[in-house]
Amino acid sequence: MNRLSSASACVLLFAALCLFASIPKEAGAALAGEPPTYQSATTCAQCHPEIYRTWRASEHAAAFTNPAFQLPFERFRLTQPGKTQLCEQCHNPIRFLLAPGDPRAAVFAQEGVTCDFCHSVESVDLKDAFPRYRAKPGVKFGPRGGAPGKSVHTTKFSRLHITSEFCAGCHEFRNAYGVAVLSTYSEWAESFYRGEGVHCQFCHLPQLFDARFIDPSGRGKGPLDHSMAGGHSRERLAKAIPVRATLTVSGREATLRIQLKNELVGHKTPSGMPTHRLRLSSLLFDGSGNTLGRKEEVFERVLGDGARKPVEKAELLFTAAREVLKDNRLGPKETREITQAFPLGDVKPAVAEVALAYEIPTPDIAPALRLISIPVSRVLIPAKAGFPAGTVVLIALAVVFLLAAGAALLRRRARRKSAGL
Ligand code: HEC
Ligand code: HEC
Ligand code: HEC
Ligand code: HEC
Ligand code: HEC
Repeated sequence: MNRLSSASACVLLFAALCLFASIPKEAGAALAGEPPTYQSATTCAQCHPEIYRTWRASEHAAAFTNPAFQLPFERFRLTQPGKTQLCEQCHNPIRFLLAPGDPRAAVFAQEGVTCDFCHSVESVDLKDAFPRYRAKPGVKFGPRGGAPGKSVHTTKFSRLHITSEFCAGCHEFRNAYGVAVLSTYSEWAESFYRGEGVHCQFCHLPQLFDARFIDPSGRGKGPLDHSMAGGHSRERLAKAIPVRATLTVSGREATLRIQLKNELVGHKTPSGMPTHRLRLSSLLFDGSGNTLGRKEEVFERVLGDGARKPVEKAELLFTAAREVLKDNRLGPKETREITQAFPLGDVKPAVAEVALAYEIPTPDIAPALRLISIPVSRVLIPAKAGFPAGTVVLIALAVVFLLAAGAALLRRRARRKSAGL
């Protein structure tokens, strides 16, 4: 019994050792004398913990492992075997910097768009090149050129890293039919933000905290927040796309006037994948909370298959979309006025509710779970009576008359009392 369990313990230990040996200890940890290579984000975490924490929670870190990507990717792999590099050039980019067949590619895939991909990039070619990025392993390209006397790795200033062109290699894509599937970069480039020099980094890589307080030299800059929150951040959306509305009632009709503004988004909203939508819904209620009417408007870009049928599957957008069927998204700083008329019977509305939600597809497993809706904002608007002026004057006169009559009555009573009656 004892011998048996010690034998099985030996087998287990051996198996564990084999497993351990098969896991690359640290993706890319270079030994002295070996040529420089790429390193895992866990290495960077030792000295850049705040940046690591924010990146870890980002969509970039999960760009390959995310089930919302994996499912369409699997479908694509099954239907078009041998073409998966199309997706991987942006979702698993370090693969194309490693030598073909390098086993570490599988380890790096777990890190998606990882630190050492972005910081080894030396240049990007936005014209039909594959892969678009060129890199130099072992050099960390960054916005500050390193701190004098503090270098632990070779650090180099890169102008590319502080411009939108750096992001464009992945955030801009036209498919074989010339249809723009991802156009965040060109939406930005056509806006006034380009002229103002407000690049993607200004909004998407802000300082985590102001380091002037902890660095008396005054030069100090805080580490940058790498969470790159986009449409998935509710607080961000609510500030970026404010909603205002008024509700007026006159006669047998209620009119809801809504103002939607793209106040702080540096490109169209929604942007990114055409599967992202903004849904504006309005509801009208009477004083007891009964619904009197409902209206909806969706802001989106819909791509078609060439026969006016919408393409919805993510992988087909990249390979089969041939036309733009609809694009009513809001451009930078654009205000959209929406007027909605609700016919009323004899009922009177008391309040309207206007809600904005951001929708993204779920991994498409159950048809009933196809959309995740992130509420952005909800405003309640009390009804303003749109009475005709004549009625208002009549009511005012009636009130004045009643007040005067009441006052006269009180005075007479008081006089009677003082007369002792
Ligand atoms: C042993 C500690 C250490 C490790 C590990 C480390 N760094 Fe650094 N890094 C620093 C220090 C210190 C600085 C600031 C001084 C300098 O430039 O060397 C810095 C600066 C940087 C900069 C800023 C460059 C600029 O513009 O000023 C980048 C980018 C960078 N590191 C990326 C990385 C990446 C990516 C990794 C992981 C692959 C990594 N670092 C691993 C310590 C480290
Ligand atoms: C999607 C690409 C991308 C990824 C992934 C990324 N970075 Fe960065 N990082 C940038 C860009 C671009 C800048 C420059 C932003 C600016 O200056 O406005 C930057 C700035 C930095 C800086 C210099 C500024 C500072 O905060 O000190 C450091 C250090 C850094 N990154 C480290 C890291 C580390 C460590 C990771 C992984 C945990 C990482 N980065 C992941 C793109 C990336
Ligand atoms: C190597 C390709 C690559 C580069 C370079 C890159 N991104 Fe991304 N980015 C992606 C991918 C892929 C996703 C989607 C990940 C997912 O959802 O699975 C993404 C997601 C995002 C999101 C989240 C979008 C959302 O829906 O919430 C933002 C914001 C973003 N990137 C901004 C940037 C900015 C800013 C830069 C430049 C500093 C940049 N990215 C550089 C590939 C890249
Ligand atoms: C002026 C600030 C600003 C600038 C500049 C900016 N963005 Fe954004 N971005 C935002 C805000 C706010 C959101 C969230 C609202 C939204 O999703 O439409 C966002 C959302 C996103 C998203 C998610 C899109 C969606 O609708 O799901 C991506 C991807 C993105 N940005 C990438 C970029 C890239 C790449 C650049 C540069 C070419 C850039 N952004 C420039 C503010 C900015
Ligand atoms: C040019 C770069 C690029 C290529 C090529 C590319 N993607 Fe992406 N993909 C992105 C970026 C950037 C985003 C994030 C945009 C956004 O926020 O909407 C994204 C988002 C996605 C999403 C949405 C993920 C989510 O979290 O909602 C899916 C699904 C996806 N891609 C699948 C694919 C498939 C499948 C392929 C190959 C057929 C592919 N992509 C090719 C850059 C690319």
